[in-house]
Amino acid sequence: MNIDFNRRLSIAPMLDCTDRHERYFLRLLSKHILLYSEMVTTNALLHTDPDQFLRHQEFEYPAVLQLGGSNPADLAKCSKMVEESGFQEVNLNCGCPSDRVQNGNFGACLMKDKNLVADCFKAMQDAVSIPVSIKCRIGVDELDSWEFFRDFIGTIADAGCRVFIVHARKAWLKGLSPKENREVPPLNYDTVHRLKAEMPQLNISINGGIKTLDQTLELLQDLDGVMVGREAYENPWFLRDADERIFNDASAAKPESRKALLEAYLPYVEMEAARGTPATILVRHLYGLFNGKPGARKYRQYLGENAPKTKSPAELIRRAMDLVTEP
Ligand SMILES: Cc1cc2nc3c(=O)[nH]c(=O)nc-3n(C[C@H](O)[C@H](O)[C@H](O)COP(=O)(O)O)c2cc1C
Repeated sequence: MNIDFNRRLSIAPMLDCTDRHERYFLRLLSKHILLYSEMVTTNALLHTDPDQFLRHQEFEYPAVLQLGGSNPADLAKCSKMVEESGFQEVNLNCGCPSDRVQNGNFGACLMKDKNLVADCFKAMQDAVSIPVSIKCRIGVDELDSWEFFRDFIGTIADAGCRVFIVHARKAWLKGLSPKENREVPPLNYDTVHRLKAEMPQLNISINGGIKTLDQTLELLQDLDGVMVGREAYENPWFLRDADERIFNDASAAKPESRKALLEAYLPYVEMEAARGTPATILVRHLYGLFNGKPGARKYRQYLGENAPKTKSPAELIRRAMDLVTEP
């Protein structure tokens, strides 16, 4: 399906968060944001039930599937599967520092082998006609100089890659948990700005610590895109004005209120529940919607306590939202 999209604002790949239900939900808030999947490993795609990872709806578009792997032939096969299933882009994870990922020799540790990443990129791009993008950090372990980062990006750009998403902090592969690796190494936006200034032909998105549309607009003065992770998951409502403010589309429909947004999500919940998707899976992305509003705690508690036992998740969501006083 031919979909026109740009990368001015994208939602980060987040394991256990950006599954197809979350992507459907976020799409109700913005027509234009680019939605990334959770990371899917090539082993999972090639050796288990691929439909489990590739299944989605056209309503989620524009959407990207992120792959984790380091074997060029496997990545090529998986990229083809991603393209055939309909996604608009395939992304290679070079930024995740978890032990599990390091044991598989992919994620952030790939930053130590720029030639392998270039080979992976080439194999992927040769296999598909959709864009292949790279998500990386600004460095890894003691390899954190500007020269290291420039050579890493330059080598992959020489292989033909045009789209990079840079989490603007380095990763420590030993000693920090994945969570700490999203908080402890300091953010360094300057490195990403410098990359764009020195390689203006590349499409560069910045990621890490971005929480508002104002901040997004400011960063877009110099950069091609902004990627938001945790804030979009924990406080999705701020995305409601994204089409108008970030994509200059004032005519795009947007929900009138948080409750109207949930109402719009309910038919999907009913359809998925009828297919056997557990209520816990369907409601788990909704906890942050009323953050800061009176009754938000009761709403979260009600969802959390009752989701494991309900037979009707749509009814559960209706009851939970009645506990919040504001619309
Ligand atoms: C729960 C969680 C899971 C994540 N999973 C992935 C992943 O699968 N692939 C990836 O490239 N990054 C992953 N990340 C990192 C995010 O994509 C993003 O780079 C990071 O959270 C920084 O952006 P933020 O400050 O806007 O959250 C994850 C982050 C979180 C919080």
